[in-house]
Amino acid sequence: MTGKNATEVLAADAKGIAAAVQILLAGGIVSIPTETVYGLAARADDAAAVAQIYAAKGRPDFNPLIVHVADTGQARTLASWNDQAARLAARFWPGPLTLVLPQQDRGALAPAVTAGLPTVALRNPAHPIMRAVLASAQVPLAAPSANRSGAVSPTRCAHVLASLEGRIDAVIDGGICAEGLESTIVALRGDGGWQMLRPGPVGEAQIAALLGPPEAIHSSAIEAPGQLASHYSPGKRVRLDATARAEDEFLIGFGSVDGDCTLSGSGDLVEAAARLYDCLHQAAIAPQSRVAVAPVPDEGVGAAINDRLRRSAA
Ligand code: TXA
Ligand code: MG
Repeated sequence: MTGKNATEVLAADAKGIAAAVQILLAGGIVSIPTETVYGLAARADDAAAVAQIYAAKGRPDFNPLIVHVADTGQARTLASWNDQAARLAARFWPGPLTLVLPQQDRGALAPAVTAGLPTVALRNPAHPIMRAVLASAQVPLAAPSANRSGAVSPTRCAHVLASLEGRIDAVIDGGICAEGLESTIVALRGDGGWQMLRPGPVGEAQIAALLGPPEAIHSSAIEAPGQLASHYSPGKRVRLDATARAEDEFLIGFGSVDGDCTLSGSGDLVEAAARLYDCLHQAAIAPQSRVAVAPVPDEGVGAAINDRLRRSAA
């Protein structure tokens, strides 16, 4: 335990937002819904508050956090903004896109936020509750997904409580996250080059349409450590590309493969993305000792779904 007592569940209304902001400004940690997944927020300029995020999640301290900003103006105070960033922000912000840029004012953020890197990951989220909290707090908020490190990300309040109850001060119950997958992360090199660090709701082709083709990733270093092979684990063996369940398997279906939980019976990839983590949470608590997942086409947001499925099976 991190010394928290009860975790307060706040309503997604003006009173709940005001209570969350008060806790955050006093240095506490609160889970807040975004359009991708629930985040675990702390003020990004407060080292002690940020340390609580790492402690509550059991997150390795070499894994930096995304900084959530109220608007492009706030982003520009934290990063050295360039033409590529301006084009992407104009098209995709607010929304599920995170930009990795060189840091501007290194004193503005607690060093642990960026894990000592010279860059910072910035996102301007679209969810009205997170937007209201950011606008009212008037400080940037560091927020990773609100789950224990390595586990499945939360897309509803119950997922947050199952993983972090008693370890965080509060959670705002804002219902189900519409996108259901973490933001796309793009690194902008400042020399015109860019790289996709994490696939997500905004597809590589949509970025390339604005910036041209990406650079290859040469470095073997883990640049977005959320890209560690084993992640999003339901805590059980996961078999991919399954068209039927074997004995003692919980089947996650898609399209014509009907499962114990089905991502999308009609084969709709956007619906499947929104349901993926909920199905993995159901699989985690099901009586079956193993998990099987139907094949999902690799088109559109299917590429991000398959990225998460491969990691859940690693
Ligand atoms: O949709 C999302 O992005 C959600 C919501 C809450 O906003 N947040 C999220 O955070 O997914 P998290 O901490 O689970 O994933 C953040 C990822 C990690 O893979 C981390 O390594 C990478 O962002 N990251 C953060 N700062 C970075 C940096 N300066 N350079 C490269 N990668 C960075
Ligand atoms: Mg995460």
